Amino acid sequence: MTSPSSAAAAPNMESFSYDDAPVRAFLLATIVWGVVGMLVGLVIAIQLAEPRLNLLPELSFGRLRPLHTNAVIFAFAGNAFFTGCYYSMQRLLKTPTFHKGLSWFHFWGWQAIIASAAVSLPLGFTQAKEYAELEWPIDLAVVVVWVAFAVNVFGTIFKRRERHIYVAIWFYIASIVTVAILYIFNNLALPAGAMKSYSAYAGVQDAFMQWWYGHNAVGFFLTAGFLGMMYYFVPKQAERPVFSYKLSIVHFWALIFIYIWAGPHHLHYTALPDWASTLGMVFSIVLWMPSWGGMINGLMTLSGAWDKLRTDPIMRMLVISVGFYGMSTFEGPMMSIRAVNSLSHYTDWTIGHVHSGALGWVGYISFGALYCLIPWLWNKKQVYSLKLVNWHFWISTIGIVLYICAMWVSGIMQGLMW
Ligand code: HEM
Ligand code: HEM
Repeated sequence: MTSPSSAAAAPNMESFSYDDAPVRAFLLATIVWGVVGMLVGLVIAIQLAEPRLNLLPELSFGRLRPLHTNAVIFAFAGNAFFTGCYYSMQRLLKTPTFHKGLSWFHFWGWQAIIASAAVSLPLGFTQAKEYAELEWPIDLAVVVVWVAFAVNVFGTIFKRRERHIYVAIWFYIASIVTVAILYIFNNLALPAGAMKSYSAYAGVQDAFMQWWYGHNAVGFFLTAGFLGMMYYFVPKQAERPVFSYKLSIVHFWALIFIYIWAGPHHLHYTALPDWASTLGMVFSIVLWMPSWGGMINGLMTLSGAWDKLRTDPIMRMLVISVGFYGMSTFEGPMMSIRAVNSLSHYTDWTIGHVHSGALGWVGYISFGALYCLIPWLWNKKQVYSLKLVNWHFWISTIGIVLYICAMWVSGIMQGLMW
């Protein structure tokens, strides 16, 4: 099914339509995988508190933890990003997606990859690299599907009917290109069986490559694509133009240039040479500035429309996500300072930081975008109940704040016990 977009009544106007059926499918998949991924998060949290609940090897903490991270990052956040990207890209470029078949190949291919992760991880098949646990046949499938996604996006850009490429599209491009490079290089391995492989790297090079990937997975999978969504959905829902277009361009170039160097902050006090660890620390601190530039741009888009925070719970969700983005991108640079990291590393503080970014920023921008899109995609005036959106907002905000505050307290206590 497609959504008509031009004025049918005006006889001289060209008529065209957007391809929204895959967008609807990605949206529903986001909800399903969001429920699954977060439920698994809850199970492993309970297992941490009550280790006797590690009943079977397949359902033990060690196997369910990577299932949680893969499900929330690649399944929940991934599908949310694809939903936002396919919807906004068509509108911003004023053209339907390049190829319908590719959109469906992307959709079903991605869901099949997630399903194979959901089976292979509990069975114990893993490369033992964080956020890159999936074994080589699944990695190959990821590359094929990601390339199909890239061809679809670039094809759409080439046949666009709008000359200007809005900043959201630049963020999508950065995410697509960088994730492809990171994923391929970190996963280079020698297969040694149907579900077994040996990494092409060893020792400190392996660690260096892994955290170059790991940190930039945060930067380009969990941040760049979602910043693109922020630049589309916040102005749209606020019914105002973005606060400063100039700032958004500075934000984009500064962010993508600086992010890529910050990975070694995950490897302080290891066999990594000191200069590399210092380089990671310095770039992480510098990263604070473009991140806050983006936060300010998102928040200030509401200037003159702050009253919407009182009346529109969906707007509130989008705004709090930008607030959490600001908080986690202040906390991250601080944790990257070697002296602070000697306290925070190996403690629950890291887990608190992760979830203020992952739940607070990625979760809320996704939920905000979903609540915007549901009435737009299904031709409804409004979501089923704004009151429920309000409940969702308050219950989850209280939950997330309690989660991260508890992790700060326990993390700092653990760090002081060394
Ligand atoms: C109901 C929501 C959630 C709950 C209850 C939850 C719970 C957990 C727990 C218990 C852990 C393991 C902590 C440890 O090993 O000490 C964890 C790890 C993790 N979670 Fe979640 N989580 C939730 C949502 C999310 C979301 C939405 C994302 C990402 C979009 C996410 C990303 C991660 C990551 C990346 C880690 C690994 C952190 C690390 O290794 O430092 N979580 N989560
Ligand atoms: C300016 C931005 C940021 C900087 C400089 C930064 C820095 C850091 C630092 C220093 C650590 C601890 C490393 C360690 O001790 O092992 C960390 C961990 C982490 N951060 Fe951030 N952070 C930033 C933003 C974010 C955001 C927005 C998210 C989520 C969307 C995020 C997700 C994570 C994850 C998942 C980890 C845990 C990785 C692991 O050990 O498994 N970070 N970050």
